[in-house]
Amino acid sequence: MSDNVIDTRREITGGHSSVDAESVADTERALIAVRGVGAVLVLAAVFLLRDSFPGAVPVMAGAVLFLIYNTLVVIPLYMRSPIAARNVGMFLDTITIAGASLAVAARERAADVQTDIWLIVIVLVVATVLRFGPRVGLSLGLFWCSWLVLFSLVSGATWGDAAIRSVTVVIVGGAVFSVTDKLRRREELVAEGKRGLEAQNRETFLMLATVVEARDETTGQHLRHVETSATLLAQAVGLSEREAKELGEAAVMHDVGKAGVPDKILMKPGPLEAAEWDVVKRHTVLGEKILGDREAFTLARQIARSHHERWDGSGYPDGLRGEDIPLAARITAVVDMYDALRSERPYKPPWSPGEAFAELERAKGTQLDPALVDAFLALLARGDVQNYPGSERKAA
Ligand SMILES: [Fe+2]
Repeated sequence: MSDNVIDTRREITGGHSSVDAESVADTERALIAVRGVGAVLVLAAVFLLRDSFPGAVPVMAGAVLFLIYNTLVVIPLYMRSPIAARNVGMFLDTITIAGASLAVAARERAADVQTDIWLIVIVLVVATVLRFGPRVGLSLGLFWCSWLVLFSLVSGATWGDAAIRSVTVVIVGGAVFSVTDKLRRREELVAEGKRGLEAQNRETFLMLATVVEARDETTGQHLRHVETSATLLAQAVGLSEREAKELGEAAVMHDVGKAGVPDKILMKPGPLEAAEWDVVKRHTVLGEKILGDREAFTLARQIARSHHERWDGSGYPDGLRGEDIPLAARITAVVDMYDALRSERPYKPPWSPGEAFAELERAKGTQLDPALVDAFLALLARGDVQNYPGSERKAA
């Protein structure tokens, strides 16, 4: 795949392809790292306090065991399946923490010492919710609460003490949960509103493009053909389904700048004068201007401005050459030319498929990107693109 294709993919996706899978893997990687650092810190802290803390040995043993099974089991498993690594890791953590806790509690009871750990548990719950979000935070928070109750009871506390400590943890954890959940929902609403606005903008410009095409003595079929063909060709040269769909939607607006070309020039049946051609050529830069500076129309602007550039550098408005022409514009140029040839226009009858194929072959390397023409002809040969039967002249 060429660099240009990769750049276009980045433009379309904003660098967020496979977001869900990546975020799961990212969370699990962060969990492993945080737990590893935590285990080393606990090991160091308890080692320093070993003379005054009766439960030092089981805690250190638990931390060492934790580091061993993470290194030998969880991390290798993560390389193959982050979700499996999370499940196995949480299972082993539960056994280790529960076992170490019971051993610590028994030793404290024997030494008649009670360590007040509820503040530590609150910190753990808050940190978990803040770092990993409400859902994971809630699950781990419940786990820490259960652990706190068990530890309190085994180390000699009453049910009343255990209940008060747990309720405190639940209230603090719940408050943090509520705040983070509200923030997350607000972010979702903002994103949803933005998506809706972009969809509305797209609809508006699609209507404008349709009006422009109608003036040009073609039917809305041309826009549908361009969209479908551009989408298929984009996929054929390596773009994902979603990226290709966005490119196809953007290609629909390629001639939106014709709104600024007077009827007497746009609909003139005979050849155009040089001055009239200059006016027609302006539809590229005018289209780019009409589409404004919205991020959602980045591709559409590229296409509007550059769909009349030629592979050999003799096109307009910038005289770009080869892969300097944006990929989206090169794709649109191929499918737009084919559909124009196959459609009836005021100045010509529709060409047969054979004539249109031959014309695309002739334009390879001069007007059009040769690799894209080959890919498009292959699509046509396989029957993947509709064959435009009959004339496309509008009925009215
Ligand atoms: Fe055009």
